[in-house]
Amino acid sequence: MPFNISTCARPNILALEPYRCARDDYKDNGTNILLDANENAYGPGLDLTPSSGKQLNGETESTNSNIHIDLQGLNRYPDPHQHELKQLLCNLRNTHLHTQKTLTPDHLFVGVGSDEAIDALLRAFCSPGSDKIVTCPPTYGMYAVSAQVNDVGIVKIPLDASSSFALDTGKISAALAEDERIKMVYLCSPGNPTASLIPKSSVQKILEHPTWNGVVVLDEAYIDFAPPDSSLAEWVTEWPNLVVMQTLSKAFGLAGIRVGAAFASPEIAGLLNNMKAPYNIPNPTSEIAVQALQPRNLKVMHKHREQIIEQRDRLLREMPSIPGVGRFLGGQASNFLLVEMLDKTSGHASNEVALQVYERLAETRGVVVRFRGKEPGCLGCLRVTVGTEKEITRFLEELRNVLDEVFAGKVSRPSKSVEEEREREASGVVA
Ligand SMILES: Cc1ncc(COP(=O)(O)O)c(C=O)c1O
Repeated sequence: MPFNISTCARPNILALEPYRCARDDYKDNGTNILLDANENAYGPGLDLTPSSGKQLNGETESTNSNIHIDLQGLNRYPDPHQHELKQLLCNLRNTHLHTQKTLTPDHLFVGVGSDEAIDALLRAFCSPGSDKIVTCPPTYGMYAVSAQVNDVGIVKIPLDASSSFALDTGKISAALAEDERIKMVYLCSPGNPTASLIPKSSVQKILEHPTWNGVVVLDEAYIDFAPPDSSLAEWVTEWPNLVVMQTLSKAFGLAGIRVGAAFASPEIAGLLNNMKAPYNIPNPTSEIAVQALQPRNLKVMHKHREQIIEQRDRLLREMPSIPGVGRFLGGQASNFLLVEMLDKTSGHASNEVALQVYERLAETRGVVVRFRGKEPGCLGCLRVTVGTEKEITRFLEELRNVLDEVFAGKVSRPSKSVEEEREREASGVVA
């Protein structure tokens, strides 16, 4: 295996002496007097009564809420290691379907959303001004934004739009053989905006590249909408050059608390943990995340996921009967679908129609979807997130109305240059 962390990661990161917190040595056992971290021993500057220590939804601990947040403890810095949260994330992904080995908390980095992991990996492996990453558009925009922020080059190897946005493993392998400045390949599975799952065999082809000394980053933000047991997180115990990113923002419905994770070898996870700000996960965030991973709350997540899949199936069934709706491109392994809008006369996918539908839906009907027509292989496409039953009912109705209006010529057509400017604006959204 050509991968060698000691020559692949940046020398300054390998040599990093991590910040040591006072609490690394002496824990808060409930009786210690903590005069080590310059915290405020008088408590949080909040108007709390003694009984309002643990609250959510305005309810106190004595009521029936199963979610507790320790408001009284907010004057203390959070735990820098998050061992309990990491163990629960491991338990979730230790399926033993892809390996007999077992994930442990030392395989994990947890961050402020997976966006923190995307950035931390770039800073760990890519020297600004010289190193590069591979991305496979159409894909999640933050890989490129983070690369640019870190002055890291981007080699784009588009997905194969003619075959459900499959990975072009041949071209990727050739690029990795040719350019030793490429340090990472960012893959998204299921893809955003393609909703296609990347087969395990394609990921393996890149992992076992015969000469490349680099890291494969597999972003599984939407993995819980894919068929069960699709996640390759536990595969990091087999491949020292694999990182798998996940998030609580999607299937768990917790985008607001900002928790993302990167599963990796203990060596890579160790580098990321050394680099991070020591207290990157706030107390209320980890308290909610830990509770979300308990059986009682996992049941709620599973129920919501079923409801989303039901509405996804409904979109797949009902959208094709709306005049002007074309094919669904890519796959269906996510909580969104990528769908073509068609030109009335030619019946071909049309960015002009997609842009008019996108703008009119948002501006006159209050329904916001995403225009993706400028992305490679996505001509005329909108990306529609699966909403609640009520939202989907309204979306289907408004889409039919708006397409009717566009086809009836009720929507004024902008000049070519204005249209191009509007397409550019509508495309410039990272998510
Ligand atoms: C593919 C993909 N990865 C990562 C993220 C970011 O997730 P987080 O909320 O954990 O930062 C998103 C957000 O839309 C995404 O689409």
